[in-house]
Parts: sequence; structure tokens; C-alpha cells
Amino acid sequence: MAFNRIKIPVIYHGKGTLKELKSFRHQRIFIVTDKTIWELFGKKISKYFKKQEIMVFDEVEPDPTDTIITKGGDLAREFKPDLILGIGGGSVLDAAKGIFFLYEREDKTLYDMSPFTFFKLGKKSKFALIPTTSGTGSENTWGIVVTKTGTGQKVPLGSYEVIPSTVILDPNLPLGMPPKLTAETGIDALVHAVEAEINALNNDFTEALNLHAIKLLFKYLPVAVQDGSNEEARQKVHNAASLAGIGFANSSCGIAHSCGHSLGGVFHFSHGISVGVMLPYILEFNKPECENKYIDILEALNVTDSKDPTAQLVMMVKDLLKTVNLPTSLKEIISEADWKKNFEKLIEFVVTDQLNAFNPRAAEEEDFRKIFQYAYEEKSVDW
Ligand SMILES: NC(=O)c1ccc[n+]([C@@H]2O[C@H](COP(=O)([O-])OP(=O)(O)OC[C@H]3O[C@@H](n4cnc5c(N)ncnc54)[C@H](O)[C@@H]3O)[C@@H](O)[C@H]2O)c1
Ligand SMILES: [Fe+2]
Repeated sequence: MAFNRIKIPVIYHGKGTLKELKSFRHQRIFIVTDKTIWELFGKKISKYFKKQEIMVFDEVEPDPTDTIITKGGDLAREFKPDLILGIGGGSVLDAAKGIFFLYEREDKTLYDMSPFTFFKLGKKSKFALIPTTSGTGSENTWGIVVTKTGTGQKVPLGSYEVIPSTVILDPNLPLGMPPKLTAETGIDALVHAVEAEINALNNDFTEALNLHAIKLLFKYLPVAVQDGSNEEARQKVHNAASLAGIGFANSSCGIAHSCGHSLGGVFHFSHGISVGVMLPYILEFNKPECENKYIDILEALNVTDSKDPTAQLVMMVKDLLKTVNLPTSLKEIISEADWKKNFEKLIEFVVTDQLNAFNPRAAEEEDFRKIFQYAYEEKSVDW
């Protein structure tokens, strides 16, 4: 793992770039997807591979488990592809990365994946990803999020070698996303860009991407949610999500994501809802370390005269969440009984999240208890 090296795929971007699949010269293609996506785009994709052997693994579900990824890995090992192609949302792309790893290294299990080891992947197959949501940026990242069968805990794993060689960013694919999915995935992208921008690992390269992604998302996400057929907004949000992917993969997310992983694991909210609702509180918690960064973000958003940059940015994030119909507090989406019943599980999950180590301000168990409680009650973090 080297924080001074940036690895990005060849990226085809823009309307109609799906047709680049025509130029793929591979003979045996293992496609990783889910049932919805294959129903929407299966015919279109298959038409590009008339002369090749394809096998479609469409069993991925949101927040993929180790069991399903291992099943895909076993099927790939039998099929012996020379290309693994993932097409779908972040869940599918993460599953495809896990399957690529398991296919390339038959002697390994998923949990052997590590950013600190060189696995010599890519000897048997090439790897390409096509996102159909505009959010996770997973197509450009070295991480995957795996749900542990049994406990339901979401665990981040990764390897630099699962960054694909090719990505296609065709805004026609997310064009049909319903408003709720557009909002949830787009807010995930915003949380990536903001958390990466305020991180100590942020650098000149990621800063350019993060700030531009933030700018694009504030401007175009509300348009894409309100009018999904607006092609300009769709393209800008799709690009922003991918830029933010490169941004956070080469800086880091922080505890909006740790808290989000735990909320997703315990209450099964979508990833975007989970990280989005936490962002305002995490901005407040990080204030002692990050206020200068908040000023940079506000400048990128053309706000130059703020007397209280933290309060201003928190207000703008909450306004954006409200505009795209997402919650700004946990009490809006969790009953008091469920909250009390599951609170300890939430804490158990959050304190072991690997991203805690990368947050700009150290957070202890006591902090997480208070942050979650304040986010439940919509109180400003004040310590
Ligand atoms: N690896 C990373 O770097 C990274 C980063 C952030 C999030 N994640 C993970 O990604 C997952 C979330 O991914 P996501 O937010 O993209 O959602 P998702 O992949 O879980 O998809 C959600 C739903 O949207 C449907 N869908 C996808 N594209 C569609 C389209 N164009 N039209 C209609 N329906 C469509 C899917 O079939 C699915 O039912 C989580 O598991 C999260 O932990 C990974
Ligand atoms: Fe995320």
C-alpha cells in the first residue's frame, strides 16, 4: 500500500461509450451482475459479445455477502474466463472485485485480500467494470465492502490489484434510476468527496478531484433527482461519483463511513442513506482538526464570507439532504424501540471499523455513543 502512488483505470466516459465493448478481444467473458441490471441491460450487452462465450452470474444482491462472492469465485474457477466484467451498482462492482481475486488466486479466500500484499493478479484474466449507479466510485477504488454471513457486519477489504484495467462511464446506464436511488447514491459520492478532502492523506491530486466532485454534486444532484431525464445532470453526477472514487481511494474516508457501515449492517438502510445522515454530525465532530478544510470546500462552492464555516457547511449539507428527500436525523428513520434494542450492536460494529484509524480526529467508543445519540436526536455535536 503506497499513499504516494495513484493507480487509475483507462476510463471511457460520456454518452454512448458502452459501445467500447465492441473492441474487447477476449474470448471467454464472465459477467458479474444482478437480476435487475441484467433485465435492464442484458440484451444490449450480449449483443456486443455474439462471437464470444459468456457466462452470466446474476446472483449479486445489495451489500454482497462473503457467501455469494465465494460462489461467484467458484463458478469463475470452473468457467476459466479471460475477462471478468462487472456491470451494476457498487454491490455488483465489489462482488466482481472479490470474484476476480478468488479466480486469480485459487489458493486464497476472500479474507486473505490485503492492500499490504502483492498477489500478482491478472495472470489469467483482465478485469473491467461498468457502474450503473452514480455513487460508490467503486470502479476506481481498491476497496470492497463485504457483508459477513452470520453477523451481518460490513467489513472493508482491499487490494490495489483489484482496480480494474478498464472502466466505462456511460451516463445512459444510470439514466433510468428512480429518484430515491439517484439521491442515495449521489449522496454517497458527496460523502466520499468531503471525507477524502478533509483527510490527512488528501494531496494535490485528490484535492483537485474531491473539490470538483463536491462542486458538481451540489449543483447537479438536485437536478438529477428532480428530473432523471436531464442528460447533462446525469452525466455530471456520474462523472462526479467516479472522480470522488479516485479521490477517496487515494486519500481516505473517515467515520461517516464507519458509522454508515454499522447503520447499514444493523438496520439495513442503503449505504447512501447511512453515510449521508451521519455526515453533518461528523463534520461537527471533526471541526477542531478540519475547519480550514471546510473553508476550502465553501470557497469551491462560492461561499467566501462565512463567519462560522462549520455551521455554514453543515447547514448546506443538511439543505442538500432535504432537497433530495433524505433524512438529516436518525429519529426520522428508526423507531425509539428499535433504537434502544439495537444500540449496543451498533457500537459493537462501529468500534472495530478499519476506517476509524483514518479519521482526522480520533474517536473513542464514548465519542461514537454520543455521536450516534446526537444524530438520533438531531443535536449539534458540541465537544
Ligand atoms: N468499494 C467501494 O469503494 C465502495 C464505496 C462505497 C460503497 N460501496 C458499497 O457499494 C454498495 C452500494 O452500492 P450502490 O449504492 O451503487 O447500490 P447497489 O449496488 O447496492 O444497488 C442498489 C439497487 O439499485 C439497483 N440498480 C443499480 N443500478 C440501477 C439502474 N441503473 N437502474 C435501476 N436500478 C438500479 C440494483 O439492482 C440494486 O437493487 C454497498 O454495499 C456499499 O458498502 C463500496
Ligand atoms: Fe461510500
